[in-house]
Amino acid sequence: MQFKGGSCMAKVQIKVNDNGSLRVTGEVELVDGAGNPFPVKPSFSLCRCGRSTNMPFCNGAHKGVFQSVVRAPEPETKE
Ligand code: FES
Repeated sequence: MQFKGGSCMAKVQIKVNDNGSLRVTGEVELVDGAGNPFPVKPSFSLCRCGRSTNMPFCNGAHKGVFQSVVRAPEPETKE
């Protein structure tokens, strides 16, 4: 856990998988557009390709048909 601005924040990681889902790890609440919670495990994958029949979760339908590799920008170096 991290403390920021006087409040306690749990660490959550979202990994943008190459050619696939968004992997969410950590204590997080996932809700629908009406604010209703989805049952989730401590780690789950969200669909990024739009092909899943189990939205918002990834069901593997991206395999072989979705191509997207993104990388975070390089940190600036100080000279
Ligand atoms: S990212 Fe896996 S089914 Fe869409």
